[in-house]
Amino acid sequence: MNERDAAQAVEPARVVIHVCETCRGTADGTDLPRDGSRLAEATRDLAAAGIEVRGVSCLANCKRGLSAAILNPDGWSYVFGDLTTESAEDLLTGARLLAGSTDGLMPWKGRPDSLKRGMIARVPPLDFTPHQKP
Ligand code: FES
Repeated sequence: MNERDAAQAVEPARVVIHVCETCRGTADGTDLPRDGSRLAEATRDLAAAGIEVRGVSCLANCKRGLSAAILNPDGWSYVFGDLTTESAEDLLTGARLLAGSTDGLMPWKGRPDSLKRGMIARVPPLDFTPHQKP
């Protein structure tokens, strides 16, 4: 194994968490910042190397907000709803699980309950073909 291969072998996949900053959650319509913005900020504050957190305006999951998506450029991506302002650590746990996955899927084992009950969709990678096992 050359030096570059060795570095890639231990380097976790880069994962991005997109948190909807416009979800109102339980807040009144006029309350600012919105609950989604609070969740985005809390997630950013806890994020570690290899995991990037970005705010986004609406993931079209408003009825089940708060909402976030965890994107993996090398595997499956996930959309979650029914989150709360306390879900930052759960999102980061999910992102770490996905970053460390060897098959491109977020493992069920070890996944926080909020990311089990709140899973809205999973999206295959761009190069996915039907012959690949999910
Ligand atoms: S406002 Fe958050 S998903 Fe639409």
